[in-house]
Amino acid sequence: MPTERQTLMVRRVSVEAVGVVSLDLVDPGGRALSPWSAGSHVDVLLPSGLVRSYSLCGDPVDSSTYRIAVLRAENGRGGSAELHLEATAGSRLDVSRPRNTFPLGVHPHYLFLAGGIGVTPLLSMVRNATRSGTPWTFVYGGRSRGNMAFLDELGALPGGRLEIVPQDEQGLPDLEAILRAAPQDTAVYCCGPSVMLDAVVAAGQVVRPELPIRLERFSNQAARHRDDDAAFEVTLARTGCTLAVTRGTSILEAVRTVLPNVSSSCEEGVCSACETAVLAGIPDHRDAVLTPKEQVANDYMMICVSRSRSPRLVLDL
Ligand code: FES
Repeated sequence: MPTERQTLMVRRVSVEAVGVVSLDLVDPGGRALSPWSAGSHVDVLLPSGLVRSYSLCGDPVDSSTYRIAVLRAENGRGGSAELHLEATAGSRLDVSRPRNTFPLGVHPHYLFLAGGIGVTPLLSMVRNATRSGTPWTFVYGGRSRGNMAFLDELGALPGGRLEIVPQDEQGLPDLEAILRAAPQDTAVYCCGPSVMLDAVVAAGQVVRPELPIRLERFSNQAARHRDDDAAFEVTLARTGCTLAVTRGTSILEAVRTVLPNVSSSCEEGVCSACETAVLAGIPDHRDAVLTPKEQVANDYMMICVSRSRSPRLVLDL
């Protein structure tokens, strides 16, 4: 969890779909909140101590409110269930400043592909596109209409084409057909379950390899420990110590033994809260945040999931 955080008040809780509530978070004193851009997320520190990341899905020009939407994950680790139970109007939550690891670039046309609760970062993006007068296509898939949040809000946005694809009515979206139909110079922004994101990338390679496709993942399969993981050492340059990172433990866990408040959130390599500068050594990047170019540069790494290709890493900690 970043050290810079603020206590915000839940102003309103709204049911957006089956199992999905949105929370409007405001400064208790009515002050303006830190600015944010479409695609940003915040980390929410729950009363139990769990930290969870949520995309901001409100309007980036509204400096009074951060809005997040929480899908209650039936088989999750408890964070979403806790928010559904505990977050009531008037309650307080510690929330990080917004960070953006999924920024919206400037393009002549946007294709937004949302799967389930992956609609959240794309909702703020499509508002931006509407405001800038940039044409857009928004394809939104979900299990059923009742499970799909923000249908009315999306339907009210002018300037683009919205395609709702409830799986129980129409099956899965035809990704190849959707990508094939995208105008030239379209940029694709996609958020949803990993299986959907992988399918979008595969379809793009087949039918439109030239289209830039930007993804935001909820979870990161590459983060799992592997059988051939090796032990290595990590030197914390500013702290002045060297730690052993054994097979089966993460750099983050090792660092916590000497820096218990080191920043972290998702611990799956998807949020960037633990991003750390690399001073020497070669990381084995396993995150879903850095671009391939950034991973090759080896200037930064996500210490919650990434490991080392060299016997020793030196980190700016
Ligand atoms: S804690 Fe989220 S990327 Fe490391």
